[in-house]
Amino acid sequence: MKALVLSSSPRRNGNSALLAKACAEGLAEAGHEAEFVHADDVLAGFLRDCRQCRKPDGECAIEDGFRDAFFESYLPAEGFIAATPIYWYGSSAQLKAFFDRTFCYYAASYPNSAPVIDGMIGKRVGLLVSSEETFPMVSGAVICQFQEYCRYTRSTFVGVVHGYGNARGDVARDPNDPLKAARRFGREFFTRHATDYQIDTERPGRVWG
Ligand SMILES: Cc1cc2nc3c(=O)[nH]c(=O)nc-3n(C[C@H](O)[C@H](O)[C@H](O)COP(=O)(O)O)c2cc1C
Repeated sequence: MKALVLSSSPRRNGNSALLAKACAEGLAEAGHEAEFVHADDVLAGFLRDCRQCRKPDGECAIEDGFRDAFFESYLPAEGFIAATPIYWYGSSAQLKAFFDRTFCYYAASYPNSAPVIDGMIGKRVGLLVSSEETFPMVSGAVICQFQEYCRYTRSTFVGVVHGYGNARGDVARDPNDPLKAARRFGREFFTRHATDYQIDTERPGRVWG
C-alpha cells in the first residue's frame, strides 16, 4: 500500500514533523510505501477564484508544486496522513490550503474532474497533531474537520495521535510518548480496526475477538 504523509507546519524540524516522520517510519516498517511531503515545498499560495485564474486548458494557474503533489502523490495513494500543529484551535493554514486547492481539480469546471473524484474517494485517513495546550478539545475542530472530510469522501478515519509540546522537539519529552504512538500508528495504519457505524449496520456484539 502507498500512503502520503503530509507535514504541514512551517517548522520543518518541529513537533508535528517529528510525529509525521515517526509515522512514515512505521509505515515503512510494515512494508508500505510512505511518501513524506512538506506542505511548504508544494504550496505557494491559497486557492483563488478559479473562474478568473484557471488557464484556458483548465489547469490551475498557480505556479507551484501542488499539481504534482496532488496527482502523483495524493490521488494514487490508498492512505493519507496529515500532520499539523494546532494554530488558533484549528489546523495550520498550509493544511487547509492543501484541502482547498483540491477544488481546482475536482470541480466540474476542470475538464477531467471525474477521475479526480474517483481518486479522492475511499482512502484511509489519519491525523497527527501537536499542541502546547493539553485540554481535549484543543484539537476538536481539526478532528471534526477530518471526520467530515472522511464522511464526504467516503473514506475511513483511522485515528489521531496527539503530541504535546511547544518548542521544537518538545513532543519527544511528552511522557505519553506520542512518537512511539505515531510509529505504531504508521505500522498499523492499513490494518487498524476503525469503525463508524450507522444504526442498522450489522455487526458482532463484541469489538475484539
Ligand atoms: C500561530 C500559532 C498559533 C498557535 N495556536 C495554538 C493554540 O491555539 N493552542 C495550542 O495549544 N497551541 C497553539 N500553538 C502552539 C503550537 O501548536 C505548538 O507549538 C506546536 O507544537 C507547534 O508544532 P510544530 O513544531 O510542528 O510547528 C500555536 C502556535 C502558533 C505559532
